Amino acid sequence: MKNMKTLKIYSLLFTVSLSILSTASCTKEDSQKVSSPDKNIQLSAGIKDGKMYYTVSRKETEVIDTSFLGLTLKEGYLGENLKIKKIEHSSFNEMWHQPWGEESSIENKYNQMIVDVEESDEPKRNFSVVFRVFNDGIGFRYVIPEQPDLKEFTIMDEQTEFALPEDAIAWSIPWDTEYYEGLFKPSLVSRLDTICTPLTMKVNEKLYLTIHEANLTDYASLNLAPKRNTTTLKAFLTPWSTGEKVFANAPMQTPWRTVIIADKPGDLILSRLMLNLNEPCKIEDTSWIQPGRYIGIWWGMHMKKQTWEQGPKHGATTENTMNYIDFAAKHGFSGVLVEGWNYGWDGDWSANGDQFSFTKAYPDFDLEKITSYAASKGVRLIGHNETGGAAQNYEAQLDSAFALYQKYGINAVKTGYVNPLLDHKELHGSQYGVRHYRKVIETAAKYNIMIDNHEPVMPTGLQRTYPNLMTQEGVRGQEYDAWSADGGNPPEHTTTIPFTRGLAGPMDFTPGTFNFNNPVHPQTHPQTTLAKQLALAVVLYSPLQMASDMIENYENNPAFDFITSCPTNWAKTVVPEAKIGEYVTIARKDRDSENWFIGSITNASPREVNLPLSFLDANASYKAHIFADGEEANYKNNPYPVTITEENVNSSTVLTLKQAPGGGTAIMIIKE
Ligand code: NOJ
Repeated sequence: MKNMKTLKIYSLLFTVSLSILSTASCTKEDSQKVSSPDKNIQLSAGIKDGKMYYTVSRKETEVIDTSFLGLTLKEGYLGENLKIKKIEHSSFNEMWHQPWGEESSIENKYNQMIVDVEESDEPKRNFSVVFRVFNDGIGFRYVIPEQPDLKEFTIMDEQTEFALPEDAIAWSIPWDTEYYEGLFKPSLVSRLDTICTPLTMKVNEKLYLTIHEANLTDYASLNLAPKRNTTTLKAFLTPWSTGEKVFANAPMQTPWRTVIIADKPGDLILSRLMLNLNEPCKIEDTSWIQPGRYIGIWWGMHMKKQTWEQGPKHGATTENTMNYIDFAAKHGFSGVLVEGWNYGWDGDWSANGDQFSFTKAYPDFDLEKITSYAASKGVRLIGHNETGGAAQNYEAQLDSAFALYQKYGINAVKTGYVNPLLDHKELHGSQYGVRHYRKVIETAAKYNIMIDNHEPVMPTGLQRTYPNLMTQEGVRGQEYDAWSADGGNPPEHTTTIPFTRGLAGPMDFTPGTFNFNNPVHPQTHPQTTLAKQLALAVVLYSPLQMASDMIENYENNPAFDFITSCPTNWAKTVVPEAKIGEYVTIARKDRDSENWFIGSITNASPREVNLPLSFLDANASYKAHIFADGEEANYKNNPYPVTITEENVNSSTVLTLKQAPGGGTAIMIIKE
């Protein structure tokens, strides 16, 4: 693990230039241009009818047509009657190291254009829009300096537009989907309702776009809606309960609005634009931030075999936890999550979040004994803080809770906010929620605690700045395969989310269910084969990843080898093939060895995949361990058959993988 010291040297070596290339004072109301470093993407900005606009093209093809910018303030519209005051161009190029991630290092290379504008008449308020153009897309944000007529203000609406020149297919969920736990559905952009970002669109076979945001700080999260019967998408910010969107003080800057521009779906997954538009790491020493795979006292509660609350079926007992610790130590898991360890779970807890204590354990859970036993076995206890949405109750206990966990060697906490409203009032994605989640992450960093945030605000790449923000839910995860009335996540869900929610950052989906029998809801189960459960451990990226099942369901199953061998931290990621909603194959190189891991999955249709291993080192020999769907396997009624074979491979090998309906293939490739 690199610490901050190494980090600084690293970026010093690679920072090439940050220079002002030209500064022009413009009175002419014409458009100004900035291109990507490879010149393929071109962005123009200017003033039309007194309003600021931008357009984007790629290799002469229009990607975004004239799109206007502006903010509706309570204090009067900001964005009309404008003239350009100044344009400033600069370039930037650096490589930065990620303490964890899908790649060790990331290139941050862009050309920037800052357009300063001012109202033509008194009070002549001014603001800037900063545009950055990367080889894989664009980002822009509003910057509002302090000025006599703009000190404290309220944003009622953001008028930012993304005008698509033609209709496209978009995969989306409604903006108010509870906790973003929805099934992304394809539809035409012009037919969309109000949806949340990331919004991924296929314009044609050679053009894919994802609109999202980066560095959501003290603002409201971004949603989009098409303007009536058009293909122009307009921003809609998640409101406060009182209707305002953002309470602001100048100087202020909005989050970045981002558009990834890609030739093919796999390139969307490889874009690091969102991370590049977040601030560099603020944590001095990151050596305590450790990715890993863990198990949990968890699935048993979702299957109603155990309870969160005290009683005869209580899951979080000292004895049960010690069994889980033994199992984790035996199989090399780094941690054990325990839910239901603390007071507050009785009755309707999600309505009465104020009853939760984050320091007081139930009497049958001996925190001291358990944590010292875990330490003796080289395993960490992972804390759980379900708040029932009572953010203020949680904030009041944050310091004492995190100090306690630090004392007992707990360095990761899963947080949860099961209630459609925070503090019975505000939406998770509102400025209120954004402020709360940030406070938790920053406080956790002070106590060397990693966070796995369930029921979050949609992620925007904050883990670059606070790499203790490991992973988040905000996705319809494996738990739906335990109790969802519709039978569980359909096969195309996992072939879609890598291109939608997955582009917002790591997903705590928790793949790895081995026993599909469901005594409570017999019709509900993972709609995958067992081999696909393995493949999901690679496909669905999360630096902290839980193997979802109860430990007794893993015993003596040879397929479990893949779960225990698969890392959660990568040096490199490639996407050899992908079709949104249909199939995806992802290969990742382990951060700590020369080995590669591949996950390849399909929707309900069976597939035969020819997979060239050209990403392997030339002239090296490897052994592939292939976990594939067995004879007659299918997700509906025969999920279990898995064949495990070995094959000598090298960079010129083309593997043929046969996948069952709802199936997949998991492969580890060990360098010899
Ligand atoms: C919902 C979370 O997603 C799940 O993982 C957790 O077990 C329950 N809430 C209880 O906190």
